[in-house]
Amino acid sequence: MTESAILPVPRDQRAHPLGPPVGMVEALGHGPVRMVWPNGVPAWVISSYSGVRTVLSDPRFSSMREGGPDMRASGDTIIGEKRPGNINVLDGAEHMRLRRPLSRAFMVKKMNAMRPFIQRIVDEHLDEMERSGAPADLVSAFCLPIPSLVIAELLGVPTEHQPLFQATARGMFGVDNAKEDYLRNAAELAGVLVPVVEARKREGASDDLIGLMVNDTDFELDELLFLAIGLLAAGHETTSGAIGLFALTLFENPEQRAVLQADPDRVDVIVEELLRYSQGRLGGAALARRALEEVELDGVTIREGEWVTVSLTANLDEALCEQAGELDLTRKSVTHLGFGFGPHQCLGANLARTELQIMLRSLFTRFPDLAPAIPVPQMEFRTDSITYSAVEIPVVW
Ligand code: HEM
Repeated sequence: MTESAILPVPRDQRAHPLGPPVGMVEALGHGPVRMVWPNGVPAWVISSYSGVRTVLSDPRFSSMREGGPDMRASGDTIIGEKRPGNINVLDGAEHMRLRRPLSRAFMVKKMNAMRPFIQRIVDEHLDEMERSGAPADLVSAFCLPIPSLVIAELLGVPTEHQPLFQATARGMFGVDNAKEDYLRNAAELAGVLVPVVEARKREGASDDLIGLMVNDTDFELDELLFLAIGLLAAGHETTSGAIGLFALTLFENPEQRAVLQADPDRVDVIVEELLRYSQGRLGGAALARRALEEVELDGVTIREGEWVTVSLTANLDEALCEQAGELDLTRKSVTHLGFGFGPHQCLGANLARTELQIMLRSLFTRFPDLAPAIPVPQMEFRTDSITYSAVEIPVVW
Protein backbone atom coordinates (compact mmCIF):
# COMPACT_ATOMS: atom_id res chain seq x y z
CA MET A 1 0.00 0.00 0.00
CA THR A 2 1.36 3.46 -0.89
CA GLU A 3 1.71 6.36 1.56
CA SER A 4 -1.03 8.30 -0.32
CA ALA A 5 -3.58 5.65 0.71
CA ILE A 6 -3.00 6.38 4.40
CA LEU A 7 -6.00 8.09 6.03
CA PRO A 8 -5.82 10.38 9.07
CA VAL A 9 -7.10 8.89 12.34
CA PRO A 10 -10.46 10.58 12.79
CA ARG A 11 -10.59 12.45 16.07
CA ASP A 12 -13.62 13.91 17.80
CA GLN A 13 -16.06 14.10 14.91
CA ARG A 14 -18.96 11.71 15.46
CA ALA A 15 -22.42 11.97 13.85
CA HIS A 16 -23.87 10.77 17.20
CA PRO A 17 -21.88 10.89 20.46
CA LEU A 18 -22.47 7.14 20.99
CA GLY A 19 -21.49 6.27 17.41
CA PRO A 20 -18.16 5.83 15.59
CA PRO A 21 -15.85 8.64 14.41
CA VAL A 22 -17.02 9.88 11.01
CA GLY A 23 -15.52 7.76 8.22
CA MET A 24 -14.14 5.03 10.51
CA VAL A 25 -16.64 2.26 9.79
CA GLU A 26 -16.54 2.99 6.04
CA ALA A 27 -12.73 2.92 6.10
CA LEU A 28 -12.66 -0.40 7.91
CA GLY A 29 -15.47 -1.97 5.88
CA HIS A 30 -13.13 -3.79 3.50
CA GLY A 31 -10.49 -4.97 5.96
CA PRO A 32 -7.39 -3.42 7.51
CA VAL A 33 -6.45 0.16 6.62
CA ARG A 34 -3.39 2.27 7.35
CA MET A 35 -4.03 5.46 9.26
CA VAL A 36 -1.68 8.23 10.24
CA TRP A 37 -1.84 9.38 13.86
CA PRO A 38 -1.65 13.01 14.99
CA ASN A 39 2.09 12.60 15.78
CA GLY A 40 2.65 11.61 12.15
CA VAL A 41 3.16 7.87 12.78
CA PRO A 42 1.27 5.54 10.41
CA ALA A 43 -0.28 2.35 11.78
CA TRP A 44 -2.46 -0.46 10.52
CA VAL A 45 -5.95 -0.63 12.04
CA ILE A 46 -7.22 -4.20 12.45
CA SER A 47 -10.94 -4.62 13.16
CA SER A 48 -11.92 -8.28 12.68
CA TYR A 49 -12.54 -10.35 15.81
CA SER A 50 -9.90 -12.96 14.90
CA GLY A 51 -7.44 -10.30 13.68
CA VAL A 52 -7.67 -8.29 16.91
CA ARG A 53 -7.13 -11.44 18.98
CA THR A 54 -4.03 -12.23 16.94
CA VAL A 55 -2.57 -8.73 17.32
CA LEU A 56 -3.16 -8.75 21.09
CA SER A 57 -1.92 -12.26 21.83
CA ASP A 58 0.65 -13.31 19.19
CA PRO A 59 4.25 -12.81 20.39
CA ARG A 60 5.15 -11.57 16.89
CA PHE A 61 3.53 -8.31 18.05
CA SER A 62 5.34 -6.41 20.78
CA SER A 63 3.82 -4.04 23.36
CA MET A 64 6.97 -1.92 23.46
CA ARG A 65 5.49 1.19 21.96
CA GLU A 66 8.05 3.95 22.33
CA GLY A 67 7.86 6.21 19.25
CA GLY A 68 4.55 4.62 18.26
CA PRO A 69 1.21 6.11 17.23
CA ASP A 70 0.05 8.84 19.60
CA MET A 71 -2.88 11.22 19.88
CA ARG A 72 -0.49 14.01 20.90
CA ALA A 73 0.80 15.85 17.87
CA SER A 74 4.13 16.27 19.69
CA GLY A 75 4.36 12.55 20.43
CA ASP A 76 5.65 13.77 23.78
CA THR A 77 4.14 10.90 25.75
CA ILE A 78 5.05 9.09 28.91
CA ILE A 79 2.44 6.37 28.55
CA GLY A 80 4.39 4.55 25.84
CA GLU A 81 7.80 5.01 27.44
CA LYS A 82 9.70 2.09 28.85
CA ARG A 83 10.13 3.28 32.44
CA PRO A 84 10.10 1.33 35.71
CA GLY A 85 6.62 -0.02 36.48
CA ASN A 86 5.06 0.75 33.07
CA ILE A 87 3.37 -2.65 32.77
CA ASN A 88 1.58 -1.68 29.53
CA VAL A 89 4.72 -1.62 27.40
CA LEU A 90 6.51 -4.77 28.56
CA ASP A 91 6.70 -8.16 26.86
CA GLY A 92 7.34 -11.70 28.08
CA ALA A 93 9.13 -12.36 31.36
CA GLU A 94 9.62 -8.66 32.18
CA HIS A 95 5.85 -8.18 31.89
CA MET A 96 4.96 -11.28 33.92
CA ARG A 97 7.31 -10.27 36.74
CA LEU A 98 5.06 -7.25 37.39
CA ARG A 99 1.75 -8.77 36.40
CA ARG A 100 1.78 -12.09 38.28
CA PRO A 101 1.85 -10.73 41.85
CA LEU A 102 -0.74 -8.06 41.01
CA SER A 103 -3.20 -10.47 39.41
CA ARG A 104 -3.58 -12.26 42.77
CA ALA A 105 -5.09 -9.07 44.17
CA PHE A 106 -7.72 -8.90 41.40
CA MET A 107 -9.05 -12.47 41.60
CA VAL A 108 -12.84 -12.93 41.45
CA LYS A 109 -12.91 -14.14 45.07
CA LYS A 110 -11.22 -10.95 46.29
CA MET A 111 -13.54 -8.80 44.21
CA ASN A 112 -16.60 -10.58 45.59
CA ALA A 113 -15.33 -9.81 49.09
CA MET A 114 -15.49 -6.11 48.12
CA ARG A 115 -19.18 -6.29 47.15
CA PRO A 116 -20.61 -5.15 50.52
CA PHE A 117 -18.26 -2.14 50.55
CA ILE A 118 -19.13 -1.21 46.95
CA GLN A 119 -22.87 -1.64 47.58
CA ARG A 120 -22.66 0.57 50.68
CA ILE A 121 -20.97 3.49 48.92
CA VAL A 122 -23.28 3.11 45.90
CA ASP A 123 -26.32 3.31 48.19
CA GLU A 124 -24.88 6.31 50.05
CA HIS A 125 -24.31 8.21 46.80
CA LEU A 126 -27.78 7.39 45.47
CA ASP A 127 -29.27 8.51 48.83
CA GLU A 128 -27.41 11.77 48.50
CA MET A 129 -28.57 12.23 44.90
CA GLU A 130 -32.17 11.76 46.01
CA ARG A 131 -31.76 14.17 48.95
CA SER A 132 -30.27 16.88 46.72
CA GLY A 133 -33.14 16.45 44.26
CA ALA A 134 -33.42 16.60 40.47
CA PRO A 135 -31.79 17.63 38.25
CA ALA A 136 -28.47 16.02 39.12
CA ASP A 137 -25.24 15.52 37.20
CA LEU A 138 -24.86 11.74 37.13
CA VAL A 139 -21.12 12.00 36.35
CA SER A 140 -20.10 14.00 39.45
CA ALA A 141 -22.78 12.52 41.75
CA PHE A 142 -22.26 8.87 40.86
CA CYS A 143 -20.09 7.79 37.92
CA LEU A 144 -16.81 9.37 39.10
CA PRO A 145 -16.79 9.04 42.91
CA ILE A 146 -17.64 5.31 43.20
CA PRO A 147 -14.77 3.83 41.13
CA SER A 148 -12.41 6.37 42.65
CA LEU A 149 -13.34 5.39 46.23
CA VAL A 150 -13.16 1.70 45.36
CA ILE A 151 -9.66 1.81 43.89
CA ALA A 152 -8.44 3.90 46.82
CA GLU A 153 -9.82 1.25 49.21
CA LEU A 154 -8.22 -1.57 47.23
CA LEU A 155 -4.83 0.13 47.19
CA GLY A 156 -5.12 1.16 50.84
CA VAL A 157 -4.83 4.90 50.19
CA PRO A 158 -6.84 7.28 52.44
CA THR A 159 -10.02 8.23 50.56
CA GLU A 160 -9.80 11.85 51.72
CA HIS A 161 -7.40 12.33 48.78
CA GLN A 162 -10.11 11.39 46.27
CA PRO A 163 -10.39 14.90 44.69
CA LEU A 164 -6.63 14.80 44.10
CA PHE A 165 -6.92 11.39 42.36
CA GLN A 166 -9.48 12.73 39.93
CA ALA A 167 -7.63 15.96 39.21
CA THR A 168 -4.26 14.30 38.74
CA ALA A 169 -5.62 11.49 36.53
CA ARG A 170 -6.86 14.14 34.08
CA GLY A 171 -3.52 15.94 34.33
CA MET A 172 -1.57 12.77 33.60
CA PHE A 173 -3.57 10.93 31.00
CA GLY A 174 -5.19 13.72 29.00
CA VAL A 175 -4.22 13.15 25.38
CA ASP A 176 -3.11 16.77 24.95
CA ASN A 177 -0.88 16.86 28.02
CA ALA A 178 2.88 17.13 27.82
CA LYS A 179 5.37 15.04 29.75
CA GLU A 180 5.82 17.83 32.31
CA ASP A 181 2.06 17.67 33.10
CA TYR A 182 2.45 13.99 33.80
CA LEU A 183 5.53 14.45 35.97
CA ARG A 184 4.01 17.31 37.99
CA ASN A 185 0.81 15.39 38.71
CA ALA A 186 2.66 12.15 39.41
CA ALA A 187 4.82 13.99 41.96
CA GLU A 188 1.67 15.24 43.72
CA LEU A 189 0.29 11.71 43.90
CA ALA A 190 3.61 10.32 45.07
CA GLY A 191 3.38 12.81 47.96
CA VAL A 192 0.27 10.92 49.11
CA LEU A 193 1.52 7.42 48.26
CA VAL A 194 5.00 7.47 49.79
CA PRO A 195 3.71 7.80 53.40
CA VAL A 196 1.41 4.79 52.75
CA VAL A 197 4.39 2.78 51.45
CA GLU A 198 6.43 3.76 54.52
CA ALA A 199 3.58 2.75 56.85
CA ARG A 200 3.21 -0.68 55.17
CA LYS A 201 6.97 -1.25 55.50
CA ARG A 202 6.76 -0.55 59.23
CA GLU A 203 3.56 -2.52 59.85
CA GLY A 204 4.31 -5.61 57.69
CA ALA A 205 1.41 -7.81 56.51
CA SER A 206 -1.64 -6.00 55.20
CA ASP A 207 -4.59 -6.85 52.95
CA ASP A 208 -4.35 -3.92 50.58
CA LEU A 209 -2.55 -3.73 47.27
CA ILE A 210 0.19 -1.36 48.40
CA GLY A 211 0.84 -3.69 51.35
CA LEU A 212 1.06 -6.63 48.93
CA MET A 213 3.49 -4.77 46.64
CA VAL A 214 5.65 -3.63 49.59
CA ASN A 215 5.82 -6.92 51.46
CA ASP A 216 5.25 -9.72 48.90
CA THR A 217 7.12 -8.58 45.78
CA ASP A 218 10.61 -7.55 44.72
CA PHE A 219 9.31 -4.28 43.20
CA GLU A 220 11.58 -1.24 43.52
CA LEU A 221 10.03 1.93 44.97
CA ASP A 222 9.85 3.72 41.59
CA GLU A 223 8.17 0.67 39.98
CA LEU A 224 5.71 0.40 42.82
CA LEU A 225 4.82 4.10 42.66
CA PHE A 226 4.32 4.08 38.87
CA LEU A 227 2.12 0.98 39.17
CA ALA A 228 0.05 2.47 42.01
CA ILE A 229 -0.39 5.74 40.12
CA GLY A 230 -1.41 3.85 36.97
CA LEU A 231 -3.93 1.78 38.94
CA LEU A 232 -5.43 4.86 40.60
CA ALA A 233 -5.91 6.46 37.19
CA ALA A 234 -6.98 3.31 35.28
CA GLY A 235 -9.17 2.30 38.20
CA HIS A 236 -11.54 5.20 37.97
CA GLU A 237 -11.34 6.90 34.55
CA THR A 238 -12.29 3.75 32.62
CA THR A 239 -15.04 2.44 34.90
CA SER A 240 -16.66 5.85 35.45
CA GLY A 241 -16.67 6.46 31.69
CA ALA A 242 -18.24 3.04 31.09
CA ILE A 243 -21.11 3.42 33.59
CA GLY A 244 -21.95 6.83 32.08
CA LEU A 245 -21.98 5.35 28.57
CA PHE A 246 -24.19 2.48 29.82
CA ALA A 247 -26.77 4.92 31.23
CA LEU A 248 -26.76 6.93 27.99
CA THR A 249 -27.04 3.78 25.86
CA LEU A 250 -30.07 2.68 27.90
CA PHE A 251 -31.66 6.14 27.61
CA GLU A 252 -31.30 5.83 23.82
CA ASN A 253 -32.65 2.23 23.75
CA PRO A 254 -35.77 2.20 25.98
CA GLU A 255 -36.87 -1.31 24.92
CA GLN A 256 -33.49 -2.68 26.09
CA ARG A 257 -33.65 -0.70 29.30
CA ALA A 258 -36.98 -2.46 29.96
CA VAL A 259 -35.14 -5.81 29.72
CA LEU A 260 -32.79 -4.78 32.55
CA GLN A 261 -35.59 -3.37 34.67
CA ALA A 262 -37.74 -6.48 34.21
CA ASP A 263 -34.96 -8.83 35.33
CA PRO A 264 -32.14 -7.06 37.20
CA ASP A 265 -30.81 -10.45 38.40
CA ARG A 266 -29.32 -10.86 34.90
CA VAL A 267 -27.17 -7.77 35.39
CA ASP A 268 -23.89 -9.73 35.02
CA VAL A 269 -24.54 -10.76 31.40
CA ILE A 270 -26.24 -7.39 30.71
CA VAL A 271 -23.04 -5.57 31.71
CA GLU A 272 -21.06 -7.72 29.24
CA GLU A 273 -23.48 -6.95 26.41
CA LEU A 274 -23.36 -3.23 27.20
CA LEU A 275 -19.56 -3.34 27.18
CA ARG A 276 -19.50 -5.25 23.89
CA TYR A 277 -21.98 -3.04 22.13
CA SER A 278 -21.08 0.41 23.47
CA GLN A 279 -17.35 -0.03 22.81
CA GLY A 280 -18.05 -1.64 19.45
CA ARG A 281 -20.22 1.31 18.40
CA LEU A 282 -17.60 3.87 19.51
CA GLY A 283 -15.06 1.95 17.45
CA GLY A 284 -11.97 4.19 17.55
CA ALA A 285 -8.47 2.80 17.15
CA ALA A 286 -6.20 2.11 20.14
CA LEU A 287 -3.90 -0.44 21.83
CA ALA A 288 -0.76 -0.07 19.73
CA ARG A 289 1.60 -2.95 19.02
CA ARG A 290 4.67 -3.30 16.77
CA ALA A 291 5.32 -6.20 14.39
CA LEU A 292 8.58 -7.94 15.29
CA GLU A 293 8.55 -9.82 11.98
CA GLU A 294 6.48 -9.92 8.79
CA VAL A 295 2.93 -11.11 9.47
CA GLU A 296 0.09 -11.92 7.04
CA LEU A 297 -3.17 -10.84 8.66
CA ASP A 298 -6.68 -10.32 7.31
CA GLY A 299 -5.42 -10.22 3.72
CA VAL A 300 -2.59 -7.72 4.19
CA THR A 301 1.15 -8.03 4.78
CA ILE A 302 2.32 -6.24 7.90
CA ARG A 303 6.04 -5.67 7.57
CA GLU A 304 8.57 -6.02 10.36
CA GLY A 305 8.70 -2.80 12.42
CA GLU A 306 5.28 -1.52 11.31
CA TRP A 307 2.81 -0.29 13.91
CA VAL A 308 -0.58 -1.92 14.38
CA THR A 309 -3.59 -0.70 16.36
CA VAL A 310 -6.96 -2.38 16.90
CA SER A 311 -10.49 -1.08 16.59
CA LEU A 312 -13.18 -2.40 18.91
CA THR A 313 -15.63 -2.38 16.00
CA ALA A 314 -14.40 -5.99 16.26
CA ASN A 315 -17.01 -6.33 19.03
CA LEU A 316 -19.66 -6.02 16.31
CA ASP A 317 -18.09 -8.70 14.08
CA GLU A 318 -20.66 -11.36 13.08
CA ALA A 319 -18.02 -13.99 13.92
CA LEU A 320 -18.64 -13.11 17.57
CA CYS A 321 -22.40 -13.59 17.77
CA GLU A 322 -25.60 -13.38 15.73
CA GLN A 323 -26.93 -9.88 14.98
CA ALA A 324 -23.67 -8.55 16.39
CA GLY A 325 -24.52 -4.99 15.34
CA GLU A 326 -27.58 -4.95 17.61
CA LEU A 327 -27.78 -4.31 21.34
CA ASP A 328 -29.62 -7.32 22.77
CA LEU A 329 -29.76 -7.54 26.56
CA THR A 330 -31.59 -10.87 26.37
CA ARG A 331 -28.45 -12.68 25.12
CA LYS A 332 -27.64 -15.73 27.27
CA SER A 333 -23.88 -15.27 27.16
CA VAL A 334 -21.62 -12.61 25.69
CA THR A 335 -17.99 -12.57 24.54
CA HIS A 336 -16.19 -9.34 23.69
CA LEU A 337 -12.80 -7.67 23.45
CA GLY A 338 -13.65 -4.71 25.66
CA PHE A 339 -11.02 -5.67 28.22
CA GLY A 340 -8.49 -6.53 25.53
CA PHE A 341 -7.14 -10.05 24.99
CA GLY A 342 -3.97 -12.02 25.67
CA PRO A 343 -1.17 -11.26 28.13
CA HIS A 344 -2.14 -7.60 28.65
CA GLN A 345 -5.87 -8.28 29.06
CA CYS A 346 -7.25 -5.84 31.61
CA LEU A 347 -5.89 -6.62 35.04
CA GLY A 348 -8.83 -4.83 36.65
CA ALA A 349 -11.56 -6.58 34.61
CA ASN A 350 -12.99 -8.47 37.61
CA LEU A 351 -13.08 -5.28 39.64
CA ALA A 352 -14.64 -3.26 36.80
CA ARG A 353 -17.29 -5.95 36.26
CA THR A 354 -18.16 -6.08 39.97
CA GLU A 355 -18.48 -2.29 40.16
CA LEU A 356 -20.46 -1.97 36.93
CA GLN A 357 -22.91 -4.71 37.96
CA ILE A 358 -23.62 -3.13 41.34
CA MET A 359 -23.77 0.42 39.97
CA LEU A 360 -26.03 -0.36 37.02
CA ARG A 361 -28.47 -2.48 38.95
CA SER A 362 -28.73 -0.07 41.87
CA LEU A 363 -29.10 3.03 39.67
CA PHE A 364 -32.02 1.74 37.60
CA THR A 365 -33.72 -0.04 40.51
CA ARG A 366 -33.52 2.97 42.77
CA PHE A 367 -34.51 5.48 40.03
CA PRO A 368 -36.78 3.50 37.67
CA ASP A 369 -37.85 6.69 35.84
CA LEU A 370 -34.35 8.12 35.45
CA ALA A 371 -34.17 10.21 32.25
CA PRO A 372 -31.73 12.61 30.59
CA ALA A 373 -32.57 16.27 31.31
CA ILE A 374 -31.35 17.22 27.81
CA PRO A 375 -31.17 15.10 24.63
CA VAL A 376 -28.08 12.86 24.59
CA PRO A 377 -26.76 14.33 21.28
CA GLN A 378 -26.63 17.75 22.97
CA MET A 379 -24.35 16.53 25.78
CA GLU A 380 -20.65 17.36 25.78
CA PHE A 381 -18.13 14.52 25.58
CA ARG A 382 -14.54 14.35 26.73
CA THR A 383 -12.24 13.73 23.80
CA ASP A 384 -9.08 14.95 25.53
CA SER A 385 -8.63 11.82 27.62
CA ILE A 386 -7.65 8.24 26.86
CA THR A 387 -11.17 7.26 27.92
CA TYR A 388 -14.09 8.69 25.91
CA SER A 389 -16.82 9.82 28.30
CA ALA A 390 -19.58 12.35 28.91
CA VAL A 391 -18.42 15.53 30.68
CA GLU A 392 -21.80 15.84 32.44
CA ILE A 393 -24.96 13.75 32.30
CA PRO A 394 -27.83 15.93 33.56
CA VAL A 395 -30.65 13.65 34.77
CA VAL A 396 -34.13 13.93 36.24
CA TRP A 397 -36.41 11.28 37.81
C1 HEM B 1 -14.76 -0.66 32.17
C2 HEM B 1 -13.56 -0.52 32.70
C3 HEM B 1 -12.27 -0.91 32.03
C4 HEM B 1 -11.98 -1.12 30.70
C5 HEM B 1 -12.92 -1.01 29.52
C6 HEM B 1 -10.58 -1.48 30.63
C7 HEM B 1 -9.92 -1.81 29.46
C8 HEM B 1 -8.61 -2.27 29.39
C9 HEM B 1 -7.97 -2.76 28.19
C10 HEM B 1 -8.62 -2.83 26.80
C11 HEM B 1 -6.71 -3.15 28.51
C12 HEM B 1 -5.67 -3.79 27.58
C13 HEM B 1 -4.62 -2.79 27.12
C14 HEM B 1 -3.66 -3.38 26.08
O1 HEM B 1 -3.78 -4.52 25.66
O2 HEM B 1 -2.74 -2.63 25.65
C15 HEM B 1 -6.54 -2.89 29.92
C16 HEM B 1 -5.38 -3.12 30.63
C17 HEM B 1 -5.23 -2.79 31.96
N1 HEM B 1 -6.21 -2.38 32.83
FE1 HEM B 1 -8.14 -2.00 32.39
N2 HEM B 1 -10.05 -1.47 31.88
C18 HEM B 1 -11.05 -1.14 32.78
C19 HEM B 1 -10.94 -1.05 34.15
C20 HEM B 1 -9.78 -1.21 34.86
C21 HEM B 1 -9.66 -1.13 36.29
C22 HEM B 1 -10.80 -0.87 37.26
C23 HEM B 1 -8.33 -1.31 36.59
C24 HEM B 1 -7.60 -1.33 37.90
C25 HEM B 1 -8.05 -1.25 39.04
C26 HEM B 1 -7.63 -1.54 35.34
C27 HEM B 1 -6.28 -1.78 35.23
C28 HEM B 1 -5.64 -2.18 34.07
C29 HEM B 1 -4.22 -2.50 34.00
C30 HEM B 1 -3.22 -2.42 35.15
C31 HEM B 1 -3.96 -2.88 32.68
C32 HEM B 1 -2.61 -3.29 32.09
C33 HEM B 1 -2.44 -4.78 32.17
C34 HEM B 1 -1.16 -5.27 31.54
O3 HEM B 1 -0.54 -4.53 30.75
O4 HEM B 1 -0.79 -6.42 31.82
N3 HEM B 1 -8.54 -1.48 34.32
N4 HEM B 1 -7.72 -2.37 30.44
